[in-house]
Amino acid sequence: MSFTADKLLLFGATGDLSQRMLLPSLCALHADALVPEKLNIIGTARSDLDDDGFRNFAADALNKFLPDYRKSAIPGFLQRLTYQALDANQTAQFADLAAKVGPRQDGLAIFLSTAPSLFEPTIAGLQASGLADETSRIGLEKPLGTDLDTSRHINDAVASAFPEDRIFRIDHYLGKETVQNLMALRFANILFEPIWNAHYIEHVQITVAETVGLEGRVGFYDGAGALRDMVQNHMLQLLALVAMEPPSRFDPAAIRGEKTKVLRSLRTVAAGDTVTGQYRAGAINGASVPGYSDELGKPSATETFVAIKAHIDNWRWKGVPFYLRTGKRLPKRTTEIVVQFRPVPHSMFAQRGAIAQPNRLVIGIQPEENITFTTNAKVPGLDRGGLRLREVPLDISMEDAFAGPTKRIAYERLLLDLIEGDQTLFVRRDEVEAQWAWIDGVRKVWTDNGITPNPYGAGSWGPTAAIALAAKDGVAWHE
Ligand code: BG6
Repeated sequence: MSFTADKLLLFGATGDLSQRMLLPSLCALHADALVPEKLNIIGTARSDLDDDGFRNFAADALNKFLPDYRKSAIPGFLQRLTYQALDANQTAQFADLAAKVGPRQDGLAIFLSTAPSLFEPTIAGLQASGLADETSRIGLEKPLGTDLDTSRHINDAVASAFPEDRIFRIDHYLGKETVQNLMALRFANILFEPIWNAHYIEHVQITVAETVGLEGRVGFYDGAGALRDMVQNHMLQLLALVAMEPPSRFDPAAIRGEKTKVLRSLRTVAAGDTVTGQYRAGAINGASVPGYSDELGKPSATETFVAIKAHIDNWRWKGVPFYLRTGKRLPKRTTEIVVQFRPVPHSMFAQRGAIAQPNRLVIGIQPEENITFTTNAKVPGLDRGGLRLREVPLDISMEDAFAGPTKRIAYERLLLDLIEGDQTLFVRRDEVEAQWAWIDGVRKVWTDNGITPNPYGAGSWGPTAAIALAAKDGVAWHE
């Protein structure tokens, strides 16, 4: 049933994500009059606050995390907020929560930004209190499990209260404008699609590099590690968007269906095709940073870096490696996709001693969004010393092309879609389970082969074994 919600119930309302992303995003949507005028936001968490206490809490967060030009919207936004303290493990307390939510004219959007251990009791409480009826939908923040089994368990629990078309699983990368632009690049231009396959593409690289370390997320990160924190969700979504067949329609069924086919075609990783690492003390941009176990306060076998050579076993991608790499405490923050094309089949320039470099498409996702296509050009001159070719980039900077439109953070888009009920940018159950199935395979390979994290210095591009992983195929990571 399609409806635009007039109530938003936010679980984990006093948490870190709420302060940094959710409240600022909602305030930005309010400032631009994008949410219904009557939208009421009910925050809930364990903290013992009343409405005014929560508004003060929200005001502090907004003053800290909103850009200055948005701050005049804060007082008006705070009027939308109310709060109900709740221990999600106490089903009886959901009756008070339901009373606080009150009657809804149009519908209720629920967003769970809580520890996964609270998902099940929360669902039970929502059901018992009548908050999970046909006029409500639910958004779920990751992590949705730690492997396929636990993810199925959570999915089953949620499915007992909500049908799939009212479940919105977040992968915040899908809310990034730049990630959505991948689809425009591929499917709104005639140029790329005919050569987007194994005949013309030699390999693809996807890098998500971060300079941050543990960031105080001791309990969560050490139990998860880079594979489950970054590869299982964000990187596999990027891979799926790069590799999927052209969807026939811009709708949730078509797009998610195509992504799922790719995820199901991922080959089980071979032991020699994966490298893990953990950062030691080092320096980033001249500033010294401690090693992972020093930050954690104890030794740990958790990986903070992963490199994987993945294969998609289908017609289009036969024999084309996808090199994936992500890590914390790397030299710079960057997310990019590199599509390396094959050399021209025959180069007449070789006769004159000139080398035509294979074309390369580099899609920069963050911090800057730009697309660079390297071409070969003749170096001007009379060629007395021989003809020379040189790589010349065709550069498109999205910032320059679209100067003006407000930069939006991913959660603005995703919260608005949740309120309005558009599932296109949310992950479907079969999709998330295909992701976990492949990740479980990687972890099994690590366990079976005793693969443990190699040390790397903070501020480096990961363990040397990661460089060797690509180099043995004659490939250099793009830096
Ligand atoms: C989160 C991970 O999902 O994504 C974090 O849990 C990571 O560890 C973050 O830092 C990266 O997101 P972004 O948007 O900064 O690239």
